[in-house]
Amino acid sequence: MLRVDDAQAAPVTFSPELIKQFDDIVSRYPVGKQKSALLPILHLVQAEYGWLSAPVMDKVAEYLQLQSIEVYEVATFYSMYFMRPQGKYVLEVCRTGPCCLVGAEKIMDYIEQKLGVKEGEVTPDGLFSWRGVECLAACGFGPVLQIGPEYTFYENLTEQSVDTLISDLKAKSNN
Ligand code: FES
Repeated sequence: MLRVDDAQAAPVTFSPELIKQFDDIVSRYPVGKQKSALLPILHLVQAEYGWLSAPVMDKVAEYLQLQSIEVYEVATFYSMYFMRPQGKYVLEVCRTGPCCLVGAEKIMDYIEQKLGVKEGEVTPDGLFSWRGVECLAACGFGPVLQIGPEYTFYENLTEQSVDTLISDLKAKSNN
């Protein structure tokens, strides 16, 4: 697992394949409006590196001919971008009112105890992290969590279904 300190020091070079995908996105916008490509490019970069370190964001800024601060202010605004290393699977549990009324807080406590890491931390095997997020628009099916990058939903969570989910993900990562 790349530590934050290592990531801050590591030089960043985007692969030709990644640059090609960037070029394709930028080509959808008028010349001079390349900043419009920032959000999808950040998604691609996050998929590649797992999170957005400062050197990675600086490199995106260089590619798009922007100031680094323009990338930082966008990346830190949206909760779907990670500013620190995450597990391979990030369990994002809705912590908004309707889900809390049906046990979301207990589910988060259970996940914390089950994984043995606090919110935002990564399990020693690098597989999992978790966090509370705002409404996932599945309020009638709470407690609910999602897992990126496909943002698969798991609804009506119970301790048993959380056990099954975590076991399934562990098995999947071993295949
Ligand atoms: Fe949890 Fe809306 S309150 S999905």
